Amino acid sequence: MSHNTFGHLFRVTTWGESHGPALGCVVDGCPPGIRFTAAEIQSFMDKRKPGQSRFVTQRREDDIVKILSGVMLDEDGVTMTTTGTPISMLIENTDQRSKDYGEIAKRYRPGHADFAYDVKYGIRDYRGGGRSSARETAARVAAGALARKVLPGVTVRAALTQIGIHKINRDNWDWAEVDNNPFFCPDPQMVPVWEEYLDGVRKAGSSIGAVIEVVADNVPAGLGAPIYSKLDQDIASLLMSINAVKGVEIGEGFASAELSGEENADEMRMGNDGKPLFLSNHAGGVLGGISTGQPIVARFAVKPTSSILTERQSIDSDGRNVDVRTKGRHDPCVGIRAAPIGEAMVACALADHFLRDRGQTGRAR
Ligand SMILES: Cc1cc2nc3c(=O)[nH]c(=O)nc-3n(C[C@H](O)[C@H](O)[C@H](O)COP(=O)(O)O)c2cc1C
Repeated sequence: MSHNTFGHLFRVTTWGESHGPALGCVVDGCPPGIRFTAAEIQSFMDKRKPGQSRFVTQRREDDIVKILSGVMLDEDGVTMTTTGTPISMLIENTDQRSKDYGEIAKRYRPGHADFAYDVKYGIRDYRGGGRSSARETAARVAAGALARKVLPGVTVRAALTQIGIHKINRDNWDWAEVDNNPFFCPDPQMVPVWEEYLDGVRKAGSSIGAVIEVVADNVPAGLGAPIYSKLDQDIASLLMSINAVKGVEIGEGFASAELSGEENADEMRMGNDGKPLFLSNHAGGVLGGISTGQPIVARFAVKPTSSILTERQSIDSDGRNVDVRTKGRHDPCVGIRAAPIGEAMVACALADHFLRDRGQTGRAR
């Protein structure tokens, strides 16, 4: 299986499967001299790890990151400094239950990657979905945590804005609320609605989709490239690479089709500080593939979990018609744990473009 690497200068390779002994990533190209602690990386891992509420999979994984290479440990025994050599990070799998997956060894879960993997490779690791499992995204979150350290002053945050038909009221948006509930929800009034709704979905053995918004603040103007490596293109590509993502928008996204030119124009004035001031941000912080200095705003839609307890029609690898009912532990709404993953992918795209911009223009932004 090839194509497990993304990024040009901040280059991430992930490896490992859901039910193997461990998974991880190698980050090549991280500049030397970046100081960080394992606890800083771990804080982002803890946001993504399973089993933290009744609304996510009950698989129990601590997702402790071990940093194996590419750093020197300070005398304080805590702070690490990158040496410019490949940084390898490892996360052990400790709570596999491969027997849960015996029934789908030959059966294809409708909506999952089972059929497609068999067609392509002729062999499939059915245990927990193998490499198609979102367990792999733990490694991306570790890489994303490092990417943040490459980006001076940049904040990347994500919030859920919709579960099923229930959309937040954007007037209630409060970033401080995101860490106060199990949904990364910025609207405190929506939390009880989602709780009741998802309890119903979970008890019915069903699943539901979601929308996540990622916002990057303090991104310097000038990152990106105008044609084949637009900043928004690369962000969209990395968000689209997350399991179960079926749509990505930048800024106004699909809603821009309904706007007039006057409405959509992000008008400009000179600010009192002598810097350009945008009067709106329909573009989502990117014009001509290059960051404008406005917040980068990206949104992605996640489909409902395909592993559900309700029987669905399918086929098996012997060409027989079968009915598939997926047991095991699954996220009833994978969008919830996708929020920290979306943040990580945006952070990686920005870190890569930050280093590429510095390499080409030599400018300190
Ligand atoms: C955080 C996260 C957790 C997921 N957990 C599950 C799960 O428990 N069960 C499942 O069937 N799919 C789960 N998925 C989705 C599958 O990994 C995904 O649908 C599958 O690999 C097929 O890929 P595709 O949906 O991108 O086509 C999860 C996705 C994410 C982002």
